Amino acid sequence: MLKRVVLVISIMLLVTSTAAKAAVDFIYPGPNSSVTSSGHLIFKINQSDITSLRITLNGVAGDPVNVGSPEYRKLFQDFFIAQSLWDPGANRVIVDLFRGGQKIESANLSVFFADAGGQKVPPEYSPVIMHRQENERFCQSCHTMNPTPAQMNSSIEKENPCYVCHKKMLSVKYVHGPAGTYSCGYCHSSKGNPKHAVAKRGAALCYECHSDMAVQIKKKKFVHGPVEAGMCEACHDAHGSQNESQLLKPINELCLSCHGHIRGQVHVVRTTTGEGHPLSGKKNPTKLATGKDMNCVSCHNPHGGMVRYFFVNNAEERMLLCQMCHNK
Ligand code: HEC
Ligand code: HEC
Ligand code: HEC
Ligand code: HEC
Ligand code: HEC
Ligand code: HEC
Ligand code: HEC
Ligand code: HEC
Repeated sequence: MLKRVVLVISIMLLVTSTAAKAAVDFIYPGPNSSVTSSGHLIFKINQSDITSLRITLNGVAGDPVNVGSPEYRKLFQDFFIAQSLWDPGANRVIVDLFRGGQKIESANLSVFFADAGGQKVPPEYSPVIMHRQENERFCQSCHTMNPTPAQMNSSIEKENPCYVCHKKMLSVKYVHGPAGTYSCGYCHSSKGNPKHAVAKRGAALCYECHSDMAVQIKKKKFVHGPVEAGMCEACHDAHGSQNESQLLKPINELCLSCHGHIRGQVHVVRTTTGEGHPLSGKKNPTKLATGKDMNCVSCHNPHGGMVRYFFVNNAEERMLLCQMCHNK
């Protein structure tokens, strides 16, 4: 009789203990989330005696991480924080947990990465937001989650309350002025909904500081479609990128992403080889180009101009465009 009670209790203990705690709690992104950028993967390990873990992303296993070392525990306790490298589309993460070389448990996570490719997010995934009270409560013991105005306005990297977690987005070749001075609070508001949402988008935001450009655009007879629509962010990243002027893509790729038909046609003129005019790979000979290669903006102003097709020299007569580069 006694034996049976002990057995029942121990089975109950086993059941309740496994039901109560999963191996890890995925904090960001949570289970079945969709994300629009490859940010971080953050979870909490629920067993204190785990010595190492291994992450397998889409079948590719990473190196084991020694999460049991005193150095690791001192810095991160039971948190695991890594930069993620999502593949476009559905991603499957497996976390294997080890104790002294022996695998104890595994946990799974599905994440959908909708990159700029424009894939449809399947209905089983929902968009995720990091800066919510349920998530931030896990971070505030080590990070400043509710900075003072003085902290927000500091342009010193070490003092900036956003930099420590978002430094990756600024480690690019061309950083946008206000992002580079850590003026995150100019565009992002802690009172936004969700928190840190930007109050204004596109031209309404950009013209607050680039008012000279608003004046220039107003004067143009022909304004480029997306500029007219105020879609500055269709071409420029508000934080920075690997391309000059913080463009989302190298210039020709950017233009061709909307004007794909140019790729397959003879553009400007049929040359002696039967191909179109060179649009890349040759030096632009005009003085203003300072030795840069030919590209779409060698001839077209990306924002607009005084003549149709926004030719950079603003001349009605096509020959004058050619003569910019070809001696009469
Ligand atoms: C404790 C680390 C941490 C701090 C501090 C932090 N963030 Fe974040 N934030 C994240 C993570 C993680 C994400 C998810 C995207 C990613 O993985 O990079 C995120 C996402 C965001 C997003 C996208 C919307 C969302 O909530 O998912 C915005 C906007 C943002 N942060 C702005 C800020 C601003 C502005 C500050 C400074 C006031 C700040 N963050 C401070 C970690 C942090
Ligand atoms: C036990 C303390 C601790 C907790 C809790 C913690 N972190 Fe951190 N976190 C750190 C330390 C330490 C660093 C490294 C700081 C540095 O690089 O200067 C860090 C760095 C980060 C980074 C930058 C990683 C990189 O290099 O890209 C992100 C993002 C981050 N934490 C997000 C979070 C979020 C989100 C939470 C809450 C869900 C959180 N952390 C909770 C200690 C912690
Ligand atoms: C010039 C305005 C501007 C400045 C300055 C700025 N941001 Fe942003 N940020 C934006 C806009 C616009 C978005 C797009 C918002 C959206 O997609 O909902 C954005 C989005 C983000 C996101 C989400 C990115 C993603 O891909 O999901 C994060 C994180 C972020 N900003 C952090 C920061 C941090 C940290 C700083 C300071 C170093 C900063 N921002 C400075 C305008 C700005
Ligand atoms: C808070 C003020 C502020 C806002 C808002 C702002 N900018 Fe800027 N921007 C600057 C500063 C400062 C510079 C760097 C100084 C300069 O080169 O003019 C800059 C530089 C740039 C440059 C590079 C100029 C060059 O010559 O290389 C581009 C492109 C740009 N901004 C686009 C935008 C777009 C697009 C937006 C809207 C999403 C925007 N800016 C919003 C302040 C701002
Ligand atoms: C169709 C893509 C596209 C759109 C939309 C666009 N830009 Fe640009 N922008 C460019 C390109 C390409 C350059 C680089 C031109 C060059 O290198 O000669 C540029 C350069 C700039 C510059 C720096 C050089 C200059 O002309 O002063 C600023 C500032 C700028 N853009 C702001 C804006 C703002 C503000 C908007 C929205 C009203 C906007 N852009 C919309 C493509 C675009
Ligand atoms: C976000 C999409 C988008 C991007 C990126 C884009 N364009 Fe456009 N472009 C349009 C739209 C929309 C129009 C107006 C509709 C039309 O005439 O096709 C237009 C019109 C034009 C026109 C005038 C066409 C005509 O028949 O009058 C030219 C020239 C042009 N774009 C060149 C460029 C160049 C050069 C770039 C790269 C700097 C570029 N576009 C990038 C969307 C885009
Ligand atoms: C050497 C100068 C030059 C370069 C470089 C150039 N264009 Fe053009 N583009 C023209 C001329 C001239 C026209 C007027 C129509 C014509 O003659 O084909 C034109 C017309 C256009 C048009 C409107 C007509 C149409 O076919 O839709 C678009 C869109 C366009 N260009 C996009 C681009 C893109 C995208 C690039 C870069 C891949 C580019 N152009 C590079 C000179 C140039
Ligand atoms: C922004 C400068 C620029 C403009 C504007 C320009 N071109 Fe060119 N063009 C070039 C360059 C650079 C080459 C390549 C020369 C080389 O191969 O060394 C070239 C090559 C050519 C060729 C081929 C020559 C050959 O040897 O095969 C022809 C034809 C041509 N251009 C015609 C035109 C016409 C017509 C216009 C006006 C509608 C024009 N170009 C406008 C820069 C320009």
